[in-house]
Amino acid sequence: MCGIIGFVGSGEAAPVLLDGLKRLEYRGYDSAGVAVSGADGINMVKTIGKVEELVKKVHECDRLRGSCGIGHTRWATHGIPSDINAHPHMSEDGKFAVVHNGIIENFTALRSEFEQKGVKFQSETDTEVIVCLLAYYYDGDVKKAIMKTLSRLEGSYAIGILCADEPEKIYAAKVASPLIIGVGAGENFFASDITALVSHTKNVIDLDDGEIVEMTADSLVIYNHAGKPVEKPAKFVAWDIAAAEKNGYEHFMLKEIMEQPGALKATIEPRIKDGWIVFDDIDIDMTKFNRILITACGSAYYAGCVGRNVIETLCRIPVEAEVASELRYRHPLVDEKTLVIVVSQSGETADTIASMKECKKLGATTLAIVNVVGSTIAKLADNVIYTWAGPEIAVATTKGYTTQVAVLDMFAMWAAEKLGRISEEEYKSLLVDLMRLPERAQRALDLSSRVKKLADKYYDRSSLFFIGRNIDYSVCLEGSLKLKEISYIHSEAYAAGELKHGTIALIEPGRLVVALCCLEELFEKTVSNIEQVKARGAQVLGVALENNRRIFSEADDVLLVPVTNKLLVPVIEIIPLQLFAYYVARKNKCDIDKPKNLAKSVTVE
Ligand code: M6R
Repeated sequence: MCGIIGFVGSGEAAPVLLDGLKRLEYRGYDSAGVAVSGADGINMVKTIGKVEELVKKVHECDRLRGSCGIGHTRWATHGIPSDINAHPHMSEDGKFAVVHNGIIENFTALRSEFEQKGVKFQSETDTEVIVCLLAYYYDGDVKKAIMKTLSRLEGSYAIGILCADEPEKIYAAKVASPLIIGVGAGENFFASDITALVSHTKNVIDLDDGEIVEMTADSLVIYNHAGKPVEKPAKFVAWDIAAAEKNGYEHFMLKEIMEQPGALKATIEPRIKDGWIVFDDIDIDMTKFNRILITACGSAYYAGCVGRNVIETLCRIPVEAEVASELRYRHPLVDEKTLVIVVSQSGETADTIASMKECKKLGATTLAIVNVVGSTIAKLADNVIYTWAGPEIAVATTKGYTTQVAVLDMFAMWAAEKLGRISEEEYKSLLVDLMRLPERAQRALDLSSRVKKLADKYYDRSSLFFIGRNIDYSVCLEGSLKLKEISYIHSEAYAAGELKHGTIALIEPGRLVVALCCLEELFEKTVSNIEQVKARGAQVLGVALENNRRIFSEADDVLLVPVTNKLLVPVIEIIPLQLFAYYVARKNKCDIDKPKNLAKSVTVE
């Protein structure tokens, strides 16, 4: 969703801001803009469309001179994508410019209050009320004006602020939206996330809710909600710039698919000590719980669906998985005997955060499985297990998902052992397969050229189905989402046995059905569903384990993946489906890393 960058240093601000916005593009946006504060006040340039458009406009404009500025990529919520609705927004008197991520929930009331005072709003955004408030409360003291403004705002926000009277300073503040500070040498930054900063500095400070930061090139002061300065040391972030760049790949998505063996290794290996899974960072007594609830959104939820099966199978505890945007409205039956597992790559998904807060309020213990260190979910959870996938830039998650599934697998084994529900023999055999996941993921990646050929064959289908049973079905959900989100082809995931209860009416000659058949014990059952769709003219692409020969007589095309323990299969089985989605989207010339209408980090509900 919206991306924010702020810079103050000794060189020109505009190129730094534009570079930062390029690196934030992956978050998803539909317009962009920058404002620079200089000797002649604040000047800004904004445009609908891509950052390249903005770069052109900035080059045509010779007014953006100054060493202090703010930039923004906007993902429209209030008001259509347009030049006018793009950020920054400026106060009528030209004193303040603001960029904002989040939603001001009481903006309608604030807007009419200022309309009654005679203010003429330029845009349809909720953000413009922030500059009105700043200008209204400003009496020469910027910090005071910011504090008074924040006290009037309801909702979530990360904001960056310029004041024309202080052309060598930038300010920022946040409540419930991500914002970090980058501490450089003779320059300082703020940004929505680390990817915008790593080329400049790896020393970062997390801003907490209610805090305000005031920065010049050489100084940085953080104030708490009461306006008192607070000391916060910078943390060193190990992510390197290469990890956030394409390294010769055509798309981030392909690079990230190919990085999965390494990401799995980084996630799994350090947690295996003397033949046992050890989570140094969590303090959970499994005997306290009579149920587990997994909540998340999108692919993280689908990872949770896999986790539900694995945890329930190994631990024999009831496990439910529920999408976070629905959970809170169900008045969930959650109490101190419930362990709530929250799964999120970004750690900033608004629905997931809201669900987690609700469950905590009801007394549950929370465990977050998160990729981004120091993110909101990581900070709010009682316990955190990080996936060590490294930065994920493509909007469509790949290594984020597989590492989440791997952590859920490890957690299931760990918890089953703590509860005494798994024999040492079964544990050790699963552990061997767990440790071999990176190598088997690599072998699944070797299917790439075969998958590309199949994508060339099937890329022009208007609609298709993914079917499977049990754990295969959980993988269908993710395979189907991958395809639709980047290729815009309609696709549905169906529990194979459920198709005949209505949806089979949509099976017609030429319809592609991708049948996942890796669960050996249910193979014959899925074969009968394959026969049902074939009898109605469907073409079938079967995905099965390498030792399966029957599949060749059932499916029109086949992809065979390395054999592993049935509980761990999803990590391997999803890989050809990720590649299939990628190559179909590429053949259809889609904007793979930044699919239309989507955002990487969904920070609004
Ligand atoms: O950052 P999160 O894991 O919380 O994100 C959850 C979903 O928004 C995310 O998985 C989304 O579905 C992706 N576009 C899937 O590729």
